[in-house]
Amino acid sequence: MENIAIVGGGSWGSALANLLEDNNKNVLIYDNDLKTINEINQFHTNKSKLGDVKLSEKIEASNDLDYVLSHSELIVLAVPTSVTRLVLEEINPLLKEAKLFCNVAKGLEFKTNKRVSEIVYDVIDNNLIKGFVSLTGPSHAEEVVVRKLTSVVAASENLKHAELIQEIFSNTDYFRVYTSQDLIGAELGGSLKNIYAIASGMLDGLGYGINTKAALITRGLIEMKRIATELGALEETLNGLVGIGDLIVTCMSKFSRNYSAGLMIGEGDNLKTSLSKMTMVVEGVKTCKTAYFLAKELKIQTPIINAVYNVLFNEIEPEIEIAKLMARDLKSEQ
Ligand SMILES: NC(=O)c1ccc[n+]([C@@H]2O[C@H](COP(=O)([O-])OP(=O)(O)OC[C@H]3O[C@@H](n4cnc5c(N)ncnc54)[C@H](O)[C@@H]3O)[C@@H](O)[C@H]2O)c1
Repeated sequence: MENIAIVGGGSWGSALANLLEDNNKNVLIYDNDLKTINEINQFHTNKSKLGDVKLSEKIEASNDLDYVLSHSELIVLAVPTSVTRLVLEEINPLLKEAKLFCNVAKGLEFKTNKRVSEIVYDVIDNNLIKGFVSLTGPSHAEEVVVRKLTSVVAASENLKHAELIQEIFSNTDYFRVYTSQDLIGAELGGSLKNIYAIASGMLDGLGYGINTKAALITRGLIEMKRIATELGALEETLNGLVGIGDLIVTCMSKFSRNYSAGLMIGEGDNLKTSLSKMTMVVEGVKTCKTAYFLAKELKIQTPIINAVYNVLFNEIEPEIEIAKLMARDLKSEQ
């Protein structure tokens, strides 16, 4: 597969387009933002998302979805999960033959609790889907675009499709892709970790230290495993790149917009003010709401998710939620 469509030319879509050009693929980006398209075509940059980094001059961007799709064998979905269904509804009538779908966004659909693979099979005529792969793991666009060593996972129920994506995206210089057949685990790991990134930012904003961060990451992983395994994921998947790996990156990195939103809240902003300062999508906010209700429905204990939910949506001070977490009954870790 040499011709690839990237749907969504934001921070991650642009960085992956650059990676694929490094791997000698032909990449077409589709986006509905004309300013982004013109900037990529004329100046080979995406300044508001990736600063001054120069993208490959071979990358072409367009707002003509039909043109982009008809010149591509693989469709990479890189739009925020909140618009995935909408974009797929535009894609479906334009498809003339079956395509392989690869999602790189991280989130769950609000209200339906659906993973992106489920949305794809909901919206796209199933005879037009060659297969579905989720490419996820600890990978900030800002680092991939400057070729810092990165490892992620291509997950699909069909191993051949996962291996195909592995081959397309991997290179020996800086990007290494592992395969997995635990699609549910990969999709849930990538989505849920964003909630803890918000919590991590809040803790830093409030002045807590590395002990607190370690507790958040380990107890957060336990909550993620509770939800994911209840929904059919393998526990070992969450012990890998798409679980603990992504959790570490997102909770520790200044590049995480979820972390940054949490940091502003910890420093005293409310959710609205903090989101208005962000130029990029903050998936963890919607995922938190989705996961909160999902955990309630599944009767799973998720004290950290509940605390983040209360801060984000009930405007309870983070300190009050932390005090509540600390006052819970003492118990065994096992
Ligand atoms: N940025 C990263 O480092 C990174 C890494 C891994 C995964 N992700 C995930 O990738 C997804 C996208 O993140 P991002 O950082 O690239 O976001 P972004 O905000 O930088 O870019 C989103 C892009 O989608 C476009 N878009 C929005 N609605 C559209 C529509 N209806 N039709 C066509 N284009 C539309 C926007 O114009 C924008 O260019 C998120 O789920 C995120 O969690 C991001």
